[in-house]
Amino acid sequence: MTGTPTTGGGSITITLDGTNRKVTVPLLPGSIGPSVFDIRKLYNDLGVFTYDPGYGGTAACDSKITYIDGDIGVLLHRGYPIEQLAEKSTFLEVAHLLLNGNLPNAREKAEFEAGVLRHTMVHEQLRRFFDGFRRDAHPMAVMCGVVGAMSAFYHDSLDINDPEHRRISAFRLIAKVPTIAAMAYKYSIGQPFVYPRNDLGYAENFLYMMNAVPAEPYHVNPVLARAMDRIFILHADHEQNASTSTVRLAGSTGANPFACIAAGIASLWGPAHGGANEAVLKMLAEIGHVDNVKPFLETVKDKNNHARLMGFGHRVYKNYDPRAKIMQQSCHEVLRELGIKDDPMLDLAMEMEKIALSDPYFVERKLYPNVDFYSGIILKAMGFPTSMFTVLFAVARTVGWISQWKEMIEDPSQRIGRPRQVYTGPTQRDYVPLDQR
Ligand code: CMC
Repeated sequence: MTGTPTTGGGSITITLDGTNRKVTVPLLPGSIGPSVFDIRKLYNDLGVFTYDPGYGGTAACDSKITYIDGDIGVLLHRGYPIEQLAEKSTFLEVAHLLLNGNLPNAREKAEFEAGVLRHTMVHEQLRRFFDGFRRDAHPMAVMCGVVGAMSAFYHDSLDINDPEHRRISAFRLIAKVPTIAAMAYKYSIGQPFVYPRNDLGYAENFLYMMNAVPAEPYHVNPVLARAMDRIFILHADHEQNASTSTVRLAGSTGANPFACIAAGIASLWGPAHGGANEAVLKMLAEIGHVDNVKPFLETVKDKNNHARLMGFGHRVYKNYDPRAKIMQQSCHEVLRELGIKDDPMLDLAMEMEKIALSDPYFVERKLYPNVDFYSGIILKAMGFPTSMFTVLFAVARTVGWISQWKEMIEDPSQRIGRPRQVYTGPTQRDYVPLDQR
């Protein structure tokens, strides 16, 4: 196959070697970032597919929501840098931005917040679902089940072709997922569920539902509420990662949004994705002491060993993940607020980062700390058990998933997602009767 790429909205012509079959592949520019070759006609004109396991070089959609430049560590939501949003914005404002494309004015902000917050309660019957789970079930297992079950309760917002239904489903998901997450936690420790309070802010209400008990008043620490809100902002969306692509793929079939978000939660659970924050803390606990860092790093560098330095490396970031920097700063703020002068876990993590970033193995492969490296330390200091870490990621990412789902449904060129394959199995053969095998 031959072809000369031209950039800037040009095209390449590909000729299949040894034939006269050719195709012109247009180059589609983005507003920033790499252009993409539009290969939609490739199979019709050449009779071949492209091969890209892991989708490292394939754009599956066009999107206006989030932009990442992994080489220099930039993350923009609708054009706004994550650093500015984390410092100046709130999670619900970011949710409006992701869903609707703009920072809301004062009226829009008030309406949006009221719209979300009036949906925080779950159908009373949904509470009974929890009784079906073992108390020691992983809360992500509970999340997959109960969020999926939401589609059995909110029949009045399941018409994906009706913009009002889409709006209400988005509100319901953003509002109720924290309630379900807090219920999963309360169930695991045998405490009564705490009903949401709509007079509290989003993150504040979440901390309230997690920590309050009916027997006494509970006041949420505003510094911790702000830290929680910032953690939610940092996890709100991240372009076409595995769980978001799962949501889009499920949604492309016309499945309802509650089922799609449940699929996203399942995809997030894996340790290579959202499960990494939980894995980081387990790893740090196992390492235990700075003296053990170097021997541990030898094990992750050993190809015969499947261990990885959890919280390090990223498919897109080949530089410091900008979210990890903010997370590290937040870590110090939270520990200060909680009066924790020395956290051995944080010291160990920082030492580990220092050693890894001067080790040629990590330098050559451009492996830097990602968002999960420091998030577990803050969450642990705030009192969350490790099993809840990925659940908190799911709470925040629900906003990104539903925004990406909405964008896809509203895209007139949207089709069912259906990857192809290169078949390497047996060619056609005849059935062999049992007595002749
Ligand atoms: N520890 C040790 N080696 C690593 C690591 C790591 N964490 N990550 C990548 N490598 C090595 C890998 O072995 C490979 O080496 P070689 O070229 O010699 O075979 C090279 O770096 C490239 O790795 P890859 O597996 O091709 O990279 P990928 O883009 O497929 O994987 C990743 C990205 C995030 C799955 C991977 O870096 C990883 O497993 N990291 C640890 C888990 C983690 O922290 N995940 C959270 C990601 S951020 C939050 C989120 O998006 O959910």
